[in-house]
Amino acid sequence: MGWKAMANIVIVGTQWGDEGKGKIVDLLSDSADLIVRFQGGHNAGHTIVIGQEKFILHLIPSGILHPEKRCVIGNGVVVDPAALIEERAALEARGIQVRGRLSVSERAHLIMPYHRAIEKGSEKLKGARRIGTTGRGIGPAYADKMARIGIRMVDLLNPDLFRQKLAQNLSEINYFLEKLYKAKRIELEAVLKEYLAYGDQLKDCITDTSHLIHQAIEEGKHILFEGAQGTHLDVDHGTYPYVTSSSATAGGACTGTGIGPTRIHGVLGIAKAYTTRVGSGPFPTELNDEMGCKLQEKGKEFGATTGRPRRCGWFDAVLVRTAARINGLTSLAVTKLDVLDECPEVKLGIGYRLGRQTLKEMPSDIEKLERCVPIYETLPGWLQPTSGITTYAKLPAPAQNYLNRLSELTKTRIDLISTGSKRSETILLRNLFA
Ligand code: IMP
Repeated sequence: MGWKAMANIVIVGTQWGDEGKGKIVDLLSDSADLIVRFQGGHNAGHTIVIGQEKFILHLIPSGILHPEKRCVIGNGVVVDPAALIEERAALEARGIQVRGRLSVSERAHLIMPYHRAIEKGSEKLKGARRIGTTGRGIGPAYADKMARIGIRMVDLLNPDLFRQKLAQNLSEINYFLEKLYKAKRIELEAVLKEYLAYGDQLKDCITDTSHLIHQAIEEGKHILFEGAQGTHLDVDHGTYPYVTSSSATAGGACTGTGIGPTRIHGVLGIAKAYTTRVGSGPFPTELNDEMGCKLQEKGKEFGATTGRPRRCGWFDAVLVRTAARINGLTSLAVTKLDVLDECPEVKLGIGYRLGRQTLKEMPSDIEKLERCVPIYETLPGWLQPTSGITTYAKLPAPAQNYLNRLSELTKTRIDLISTGSKRSETILLRNLFA
């Protein structure tokens, strides 16, 4: 697109993930030198279409698809080394050089086999109140980090310390696995052998990435911080406990990389033109009717990581306005507008009704949020294809009207509109880096 990068930008999801961040990161990577993941793990699924080729990335930043760019997995990410090695090998098998271009933080925590086992057991015990996780061990890995018993990438390079930490952890964890979850115990020697072999394969990319990013900033390079999941899955600001276990909001870009807030110049929020959610938890504008099915079908709303069908509903402006506040959004990119092309009318959630009360904000009490009924504003649909349109003036007037209203309600300017999965199917309203 020929944009000239002039700043360091964070990209975040404004809903419950799956907003189409992968495509936007890919577009903006053109103007960045370094692309950095700062939270989450291989629970994410970023889909990018280049020409006839489709790539789904889970852990490695989407910028890896641009041959001359460098990528970083920051300290805020939890890394399953087997998943990382597999993703690296799959990319290299398709001709994309990863080795030498990807660095992983020494301080990033490891996902261990017992994290997956604990998550499985715990979700089962929760019954109807289960979170509907991706089953990747994300939550237990972050729990260990906070409990100060986590094992980090740097420990892979110190076999004695790795053994000590693992032995200590297994002495407690095997008790829970066997007694509480009725699961198989995990054997020290087998895990040790497996993980030290991973360490051997990854040692060349494990480094102090805070230093590396800082150096790049000092050299005047441009950094793109790539968020995974979305604002309402953030462990602090999301629909707790139906969230992921990391800081998916813009603040996470600082703590998850070791870069100060003064080094960040803009935050771009990605919002789908409607709303989706995977897993359990409240979703006020969810459509359990034919329209919901149509959005799911037309938008191909199936999880990129687990293949689960995504729940679908109308755009919820309360959700995105909240995201604008929490992330300090400088602008929005609206994706998948074309999915609404065949709707005779389109609705925007503008508030909630809770009993006799009218709410303009999301309640923190999850039970109250579960009882919220959306208040809608209905606008005429455009009933014309917008797929692949690249200039704003060519959008049908009702589609422009919908976007203007969406921007007004979320109190955020729209800088980019995506009208299809390809790089070229984009309307750029303003140079994001200017
Ligand atoms: P976890 O991150 O696997 O612990 O899952 C916690 C919740 O976040 C579940 O509802 C997941 O479906 C959801 N989740 C995690 N990663 C993503 C994502 O990349 N897109 C959408 N939902 C996600």
